[in-house]
Amino acid sequence: MQKVRKAVFPVAGMGTRFLPATKASPKEMMPVVDKPLIQYAVEEALDAGITEMVFITGRNKRSIEDHFDKAYELENELEAKGKQKLLDILQSIIPKSVTCIYIRQPEALGLGHAVLCAQPVVGDEPFAVILADDLIDGGTNSEMARMVEVFGDTHCAVLGVEEVPHEDTSSYGIVEVNDVNGKLRISNIVEKPKPEEAPSNLAVVGRYILTPRIFHHLQHVQPGKGGEIQLTDGIFALMQEQHILAHKLKGTRYDCGSKLGYLKATLAYGLKHPEVGDEFAAYLKDFCRV
Ligand code: G1P
Repeated sequence: MQKVRKAVFPVAGMGTRFLPATKASPKEMMPVVDKPLIQYAVEEALDAGITEMVFITGRNKRSIEDHFDKAYELENELEAKGKQKLLDILQSIIPKSVTCIYIRQPEALGLGHAVLCAQPVVGDEPFAVILADDLIDGGTNSEMARMVEVFGDTHCAVLGVEEVPHEDTSSYGIVEVNDVNGKLRISNIVEKPKPEEAPSNLAVVGRYILTPRIFHHLQHVQPGKGGEIQLTDGIFALMQEQHILAHKLKGTRYDCGSKLGYLKATLAYGLKHPEVGDEFAAYLKDFCRV
């Protein structure tokens, strides 16, 4: 049985919801306290035993490559000044044994197309897809680690899902599931249905483990919602051939693609930050009293 060794990070999106912050720098580089969103996503993959990170990039995304690359000048300077702690932080961003691969998505043709761009690198293996703007605090394990475990037990594609308010279904891929011996088997998936057309309120939340057969389907699906090649439509086609499971998140998800979700994440991660958490909590207590 093949292991999940590779994760695909689609990072070519324009991040229009955060303009002007994202005019010249990628939304995936927005920090939650002191780490960019993309680093949290990569850490989640590392915790799941994934060793090859495949970034699907676009224009203005150079800083993501720089972030995971060695910064010689900065490191030399910190070393010369004896700032070992900061040097350690820089050098532990990603283990040396991990490979980062960057593929340019020439046109923004949709999430399905972005994933298809990874085919030459992923080849004939199961792989993870992580959307960095869904930040998931998994607690003791990363959410992806839990999903990899489900894949290991079942050899089925697995989608991370969460219940959302009914009125929000038009922001997500929505699944319908059947409980088969305690496993949630997906029987339908629809991209961003209106609440009155949604088969449920169970939303796909930016975590996928897919089998390589998805590439075949992504090559053939027609543009769907918004005129884009949708990953959801590829998954619907895959579902006609293979069982696909839903994994209900155990961790807490912050929708960092929205301003409110991003603020909530900043608050939660700020409060548990070892350096500033206690002081921040005290400050907030005072602030809320006013
Ligand atoms: C994408 C997917 C959608 C999924 C969502 C999760 O939409 O197309 O199916 O539910 O991510 O965040 P986006 O948020 O990129 O519009």
